[in-house]
Amino acid sequence: MILYKEAWKNQIKGVKIMKFFEGFKVNGKPFLALGAQAHNSSSYTREMFNEAVKATVALNGNTVEAPIYWEKIEPSEGKFDFSSIDYMVELCRKAKIKLVILWFASWKNGDFSYAPAWVKSDQKRFPRVLRADGTAVPNLSAHYNVNWEADAKAYCAVMAHIKKIDEKEQTIIAMQVQNEPGYLRTDRDFSPKALENAKKPVPEKLLKYLETHNHAPAYKYWKENGLKKGLDWENTFGFWGAEFCETWFLALYIDAIAEAGKKVFDIPNYINVWLNAGNPWGVAGMEYPGGGAVIRVMHIWLAAVDYIDMVAPDIYEQNSYRYQRIVDFYASDENALFVPESSGFVTGACNLFYAIAKGAVGYAIFGAESYVDAEGKVNDTALALRDSFYAIQKAMPLILKHKNTGKMYPVVPHAGLQDEGFEFKEFLGNVMFGSNRYMPGRPLYTDYSNRRLNLNEDQMTPRGLIIEDEDKLFYLTGYFHLRLMPKKSPEISRINDYLPVADFISVEEGHFDEKGEFIVDRTRNGDQVMFGGFWVTPACGVVRLRLI
Ligand code: DGJ
Repeated sequence: MILYKEAWKNQIKGVKIMKFFEGFKVNGKPFLALGAQAHNSSSYTREMFNEAVKATVALNGNTVEAPIYWEKIEPSEGKFDFSSIDYMVELCRKAKIKLVILWFASWKNGDFSYAPAWVKSDQKRFPRVLRADGTAVPNLSAHYNVNWEADAKAYCAVMAHIKKIDEKEQTIIAMQVQNEPGYLRTDRDFSPKALENAKKPVPEKLLKYLETHNHAPAYKYWKENGLKKGLDWENTFGFWGAEFCETWFLALYIDAIAEAGKKVFDIPNYINVWLNAGNPWGVAGMEYPGGGAVIRVMHIWLAAVDYIDMVAPDIYEQNSYRYQRIVDFYASDENALFVPESSGFVTGACNLFYAIAKGAVGYAIFGAESYVDAEGKVNDTALALRDSFYAIQKAMPLILKHKNTGKMYPVVPHAGLQDEGFEFKEFLGNVMFGSNRYMPGRPLYTDYSNRRLNLNEDQMTPRGLIIEDEDKLFYLTGYFHLRLMPKKSPEISRINDYLPVADFISVEEGHFDEKGEFIVDRTRNGDQVMFGGFWVTPACGVVRLRLI
């Protein structure tokens, strides 16, 4: 099969055709993917996948992510078995959730362990990455077309099958092309072609991209080395040259597979990243797979690829400042944020609101089955996450409406932080984190409807979203107590704690119907609003504040 890599042709012209991904759509309607990834390393059976589906539903997810393996899809060359795709689609449809398929082929966590035996055992035909001493590592070299062509043939067969079974129904919303690609056990590829490519001039396409994106970390290194053109990788980028070269060729390899696949059936796709958390410490090939789209080389990926819709970070980071730094980097006007893997414990249950507020098009935790017991009941440690997903599901029409408008404010606690302040158009806001239980004003747990819930400590951790729908119209979702103070003195002033409190027309609990209309389930007043009762818990759904 000969595939023409258009990116190579464009390289000279410096044309960039990758478009900004606006978000998933199902039957023409915007769709925010929320869910979990299946434990993916050995889920070879229908039963095991079904457990992941049930766990995703129990966690209030609407999407499950699960792998297919090249070795199972194409056990012998040219003979395909799509039964795993068929049962995944069937079980997701039954559960009324969507599916993201992970293509484990040339890479899974910086390794090629899911390549078929006929690929693994023929090093002559399928050249490997070589270490400096000439020994091979378990990776296909990105510098040889024969490797990506073999992968792409199988990937195209998969896409043709998906088109056949799912074009109409759209159960599969995206493809992850490979898994955490890059090289481990060596910081670069020393195979003959790799060494040859490293000595070639850095492509104009990349340098043109960097000229117009001088905030890119790669630009900084280019500048430090004199902003020269026509030189090899090391002379252009200095110390980082080898990693940048591997990144470029790895990106082209995967983009070629994505291109071939999109030409068969065009659905959204992404690559995921084993992060080094933007930490300068960390050696490619040891702490993370070299060539993967870590912060330092992210723009090299963006410059190289034309057929990948998103570069998606796997964010296991627990520290909320670092988490936010990662989100801020990967959610930009150059790249839509999709988080395909993250932690499902309490820090994850809080941090995810930051990603959603920053416009994430999708969010998943890793290892769905680990968060439920043998009967499928959600474990205590994941109840906070389950509630956070619930809160997001309830506010979905608003979240989709306000994506990237700057009108969604995340409530996320940081270790040691007592409170967070917010500035809205006409009000100042404040949420206390100091204690889960003793909120200022009226503690949430004393409301009779919430007192019955027996929430655990994690579930009562303040977190959520404040949505400023209009200047005097707010929606709250999650678990927190918001104090609001008008920027201008209101005609009627109320004093609560140490602050004046915004006066209100109504405080209502409710939900959105299928048309996206807010339906009021309970109007709070009297005891439930005294002393500034602007609070929300997942049990009350979404709270609407109409202020004066
Ligand atoms: C990241 C990988 O992408 C996943 O496939 C899985 O191996 C997780 N790590 C396990 O934590």
